[in-house]
Amino acid sequence: MAPQKIIIDTDPGQDDAIAILLALASPEELEVLAITTVAGNVPLDKTSRNARVICELAGKTDIPVHEGCDRPMQRTLVTAEYVHGKTGLDGADLPEPKMPVASLSAVEAIIHHIRREPPGSVTLCPLGPLTNIATAFSQAPDIVERLAGIVLMGGAYFEVGNTTPAAEFNIYVDPEAAEIVIKSGIDITILSLDVTHKALITQPWLDRIVALDTPVTRVATGWLNFYERYDVEKYGGAGGPLHDPCVIAYLLRPDLFSGRRINVEIETQSDLTRGMTVADWWGVTDRPPNALFIGDVDSDGFFDLLAERLARL
Ligand code: BDR
Ligand code: CA
Repeated sequence: MAPQKIIIDTDPGQDDAIAILLALASPEELEVLAITTVAGNVPLDKTSRNARVICELAGKTDIPVHEGCDRPMQRTLVTAEYVHGKTGLDGADLPEPKMPVASLSAVEAIIHHIRREPPGSVTLCPLGPLTNIATAFSQAPDIVERLAGIVLMGGAYFEVGNTTPAAEFNIYVDPEAAEIVIKSGIDITILSLDVTHKALITQPWLDRIVALDTPVTRVATGWLNFYERYDVEKYGGAGGPLHDPCVIAYLLRPDLFSGRRINVEIETQSDLTRGMTVADWWGVTDRPPNALFIGDVDSDGFFDLLAERLARL
């Protein structure tokens, strides 16, 4: 079967970086048409730099990296250096990238690829705030029905929030963009904190990655050690959650995940609950389902897959 065509929209971030490596290590299943960057974990100049650093680390300098929106649609940018460090990729020292940013902007590239590829063949994989995606949908509404779907990391129901008591980071940063995407009518799969908080980077798994001892896994180990300290301090538990790789793992092995098709709405009005994903997990409203909301993962299977693929790079 031909590989599934994807566009990774991202704000790297160490967990974004592992997600990108997982995709780049899986060319038989996934064809990465482009990586599009957005402001999120760190400002845009850093996410664009980091995306290129990751491609160069993986030896995949032919993947175009397009620079996207530098701020949310209507809000002031909120970043997360307290999680990811000053560069967004703290934990490993890597050279400045040599590959240039591609000439089209992220929004132009998203529109271009979706219009050029056969209808129903491109899946969008957002790993950060949804600003680029919503802007592309607003500028070119025709692309929505040409998509195969969207598989994104964001939101929560049982885990509620990691940035405020009510909201997950990616949705909190640009709730208006999230609302446009969720209301677009497209088939959408949401890898929420409910599932990513079960994909914990445990010490035995990290030891396995250390033992692989390749140039890529040495860097990945540095990133993961840096990145997981924040959530371990915050939540306690066996390790930090590896959020964004769940999106790519879902594309590769959907059988490892389970969820429910439910209605999800985004809170944009309240200051108190800004960016909350109001997920009707129990079906207590008559609002029609608009998303597959993933809540569980076979974490051993997930980490086996990740270790096996990282070893390939
Ligand atoms: C999400 O926020 C970012 O910090 C991570 O990269 C992930 O995409 C988790 O809430
Ligand atoms: Ca991210």
